[in-house]
Amino acid sequence: MSNQIPTTPASTHSASNAPAPEPASLNRRSFLRAAGLLSAASVAAPRLHALAPEAAAEVPPRISANDRIRLALIGAGGQGQYDTSIALQVPGVELVAVADCYTGRLQHCRERWGASLFTTRDYREILARQDVDAVLIATPDHWHKQAAVDAMHAGKDVYCEKPMIHLYSDGPEMIEAARSTGRILQVGSQRVSSMLYAKARDLLASGAIGQLNMVTAHWDRNSAIGAWDYTIPLDASPQTCDWTRFLGTAPQIPFSAEQFFQWRKWSAYGSGVAGDLFVHLFSGTHFITGAKGPTRAMATGGLRFWKDGRNVPDVMLALFDYPEGFNLSLRVNFVDGGEENESLIFTGSEGTITITGNAVIVSRVPRPSAPGLTVDTFPEAMQQQMRRQYAERYPAVHPAGPPPAALDRFEAPPGYSDSYDHFSNFFHAVRTRQPVVEDAVFGFRAAGAALLSNLSYQQDVIVHWDPVAMKLTNSGAHPAA
Ligand SMILES: NC(=O)c1ccc[n+]([C@@H]2O[C@H](COP(=O)([O-])OP(=O)(O)OC[C@H]3O[C@@H](n4cnc5c(N)ncnc54)[C@H](O)[C@@H]3O)[C@@H](O)[C@H]2O)c1
Repeated sequence: MSNQIPTTPASTHSASNAPAPEPASLNRRSFLRAAGLLSAASVAAPRLHALAPEAAAEVPPRISANDRIRLALIGAGGQGQYDTSIALQVPGVELVAVADCYTGRLQHCRERWGASLFTTRDYREILARQDVDAVLIATPDHWHKQAAVDAMHAGKDVYCEKPMIHLYSDGPEMIEAARSTGRILQVGSQRVSSMLYAKARDLLASGAIGQLNMVTAHWDRNSAIGAWDYTIPLDASPQTCDWTRFLGTAPQIPFSAEQFFQWRKWSAYGSGVAGDLFVHLFSGTHFITGAKGPTRAMATGGLRFWKDGRNVPDVMLALFDYPEGFNLSLRVNFVDGGEENESLIFTGSEGTITITGNAVIVSRVPRPSAPGLTVDTFPEAMQQQMRRQYAERYPAVHPAGPPPAALDRFEAPPGYSDSYDHFSNFFHAVRTRQPVVEDAVFGFRAAGAALLSNLSYQQDVIVHWDPVAMKLTNSGAHPAA
């Protein structure tokens, strides 16, 4: 079995075992249900600021009944059905069709959204329909490019789940299809639309932590579902699962219910923890800092615990250099022995901005203005002389000492959903033809950067990348691993 994570189609498979909706959103309940400001009882930090919902002001005005966007879903698994439930909360959006390779999910979509829903195993039947304006693609990663390109050429606007690419060659094709067809392509890293991330971006730009020198982020889990051990339905079989259609361009192997339903565990379909989770941390980092991507990447890790036939690591550590003058350090650990958690810390010369859970926290501990003295080991007379000189040069500014450390905490309202804002942004673009917040170039820069980790891990090299041209630049790393 290979432990390669694909940058081109994977060459080997395991015939054994199979997905987790990673936390798809800061909160999966509708933003519409957000009550407003945070209650005082839930406030723990010294200075709390409730983020006002006006951060979602991009949402277009309510539209008239004859201006409805007719949406179709391609890939109706965990994220596809969740995304659809959020998309349908945006005013003026209706679901008309669903494509999926498993009969049970098509049935569940009809149960959820009405028996008259058009359902099919073949997404091309959806693309041929005149009553479909936009498609939501939530297939496994190895289908993102083809489904998105086919949809754009069929005249449909596209919301494509992350990671945008599975192979490096997917990026230019998707960018070119969006350009040549003039269709809207929004990539589904919903944090890019989060009011928390907008707050962090504004804080950084306003100089709240001085000059950025490092970003540290992790996404740890400690459960079987977290490690992609999704439940296989009772009736999984070649009759209920369209295995040929699921495989697509992946290596042709006999039917495996594990690979069908737990596809993230195999590089032929998924993109490892880098494509599944690092990509969210990249899209967040790029949105907040304005950076286009790293120039250098190195990664390590291994399959430490979930030795169930998967061929991708469950622990990964990676380091990246950014030309803007900061380093990024990422970690995913599927066996952390504690609480599942996720955070992103921006470290600057004057403090840190932390995004965790439903909050952005700014911490500033001012550096002493005086350099300090380390004279204890010098001769006594010299110590005294140096202490006198120091006291003259750096007199105490205030009898109370340096200013107190500052700690500010900003929280989104209860029930806030960044996914709702991300879909609002997409449908606004579909109506107005204005740019989306996460287009194909942004999506490629985030996913392309994330997949550098897989290249470095597989090939045991430091990988160089041109984030502007979106190209690998060193001869040591080959996308055809
Ligand atoms: N934005 C987020 O936070 C987030 C969260 C979870 C998943 N995702 C992304 O969503 C995508 C789907 O993940 P999931 O957890 O829902 O997986 P899933 O396995 O639950 O669902 C995928 C579905 O796609 C179907 N499918 C496979 N090939 C198809 C094809 N050719 N045509 C139509 N349907 C096809 C499968 O039958 C399956 O029902 C992944 O790319 C994943 O990275 C994003």
